[in-house]
Formats: sequence, structure tokens, C-alpha cells
Amino acid sequence: MVVITASLMCASQLHLYRDVHSLLKSGIDMFHFDIMDGDFVENIALNIDLIKELRTVTHKKFDAHLMVRKPSKYILKLKEAGVNIIYFHIESSEDPHYIIDFIKREGLEVGLVINPDTPLEKVLPYIERVDYFMFMTVRPGFAGQKFEQSVLHKIEQFQQLTAGKEHIPKLAADGAINAKTLRLLSERGVEVFVGGSAGLFNKEGFNNNLDILKQRDELLPLKNKIEEEIKR
Ligand code: DX5
Ligand code: ZN
Repeated sequence: MVVITASLMCASQLHLYRDVHSLLKSGIDMFHFDIMDGDFVENIALNIDLIKELRTVTHKKFDAHLMVRKPSKYILKLKEAGVNIIYFHIESSEDPHYIIDFIKREGLEVGLVINPDTPLEKVLPYIERVDYFMFMTVRPGFAGQKFEQSVLHKIEQFQQLTAGKEHIPKLAADGAINAKTLRLLSERGVEVFVGGSAGLFNKEGFNNNLDILKQRDELLPLKNKIEEEIKR
């Protein structure tokens, strides 16, 4: 299954509601909110008040991607704003067990994120405790970067290292997701994809892009056949 979560840092900040409305009409699955502290990454992105306001217009799942040194400072505010899944980085500076317990105690789903250069060994002690495990396929913090091919091998390694484990989290990927990279990732078991400037927020339009990313075009011949049969 392919799940697309729309990265709203890539939307028009001026016409944000217009983009959200069109994404909903086009059948988006979730919304992805990048939260940055200007320290863990050298950028600032979305505001928690914005999440709160958007919660009043949709019941779709919201996920927050914390690119911050201290994830614990944001959990309660994100919960109050209506976020369902909180992703934090293994590279942030707090104890991952503490963050996982905190997020779960608040009744939210928890996702762990790994940067392209961080060794997989770092996440293994936590992997059976999280709902999602997200591979950054670019360096975190900025949209519009090049896909890191080396991550494909890392995902294969992950599959080998976790084979036979009782609980394996859902795999997600963030960065430079387009039709081509999505296919390479989904062949390796990734199911949740962050749609950003590469494959969702571009001039092709949300409906076309979602048809391609969610492979809805592959369903079209079947849909036409059924409709023809109904007409007969
Ligand atoms: C990058 C962000 C992503 C970003 C990816 O740090 O976490 O959510 O929007 O989008 P593109 O497609 O521009 O790589
Ligand atoms: Zn992100």
C-alpha cells in the first residue's frame, strides 16, 4: 500500500488553505508538518498554531516531523494542536526511550527518523518500540535536494537486520520523493512517503501527481472495465 503525506512546508505559504483544500479534493492521505528549531537544522519551518487551525478543517491524520534538539519540549503542544503521529530523530540529544515513552503515554503514535549518514546500529535498540521508522532520503531541513541513493542499500540492510523480529514498524521515507524514487523505495518495503517539492508540489498539479504517486493510473483500466460491464 502507498500512503502519501503532504509536506506543507512545500505548499504556498501565501495560499496555504487553497493548497490544503485542493489536496483534500485530490485524495491526499495525511499531512506532514516539519518543525525545526534553527539549531538541529539551520532552518525554521512550520508553526504549531498553524497545525491547530488546520485541524479545524480536516480529520485526516497529521504527522509532525521534529527536527529539533529537544523533542520532549514539543510533544504536549503538538498533541493539543491535533497531531496523531510524532516523528523524532535518533540524532536529537534526548534519550530515545524517554521520548518514546512520553509520546506513547500521551496516546499518540511514535515514529523514529534516521539521517542518511547515521549507522543503523543506533536505532536497533528502539525499533521494536515504535510505530513508524522513517528514512531521510535527503539531509534534513531543506526542500528541493537530491535523492541519496545510498539509503536504498540501508533499507535492504535494515530488512536483513530486523527479519524475524516480533514487531517491525511501518517504513516511511522523506525527501525527493517522485514516481521513480517512490518505486525504488516501495520495492524495498517502504509504505509511507512524504510528498514534497519533488513529486507533489510542482506544476503538474496535485491530482496528476497523486495519480502517479499512488499508482491510481494502474487501477484505471480495471475501473473502466467494470464501468463498461455495468453499462451492458
Ligand atoms: C526535508 C523535509 C521534507 C521536505 C521534502 O527536510 O523534512 O518534509 O518537504 O521535500 P522535497 O521533495 O523537496 O525533498
Ligand atoms: Zn519532513
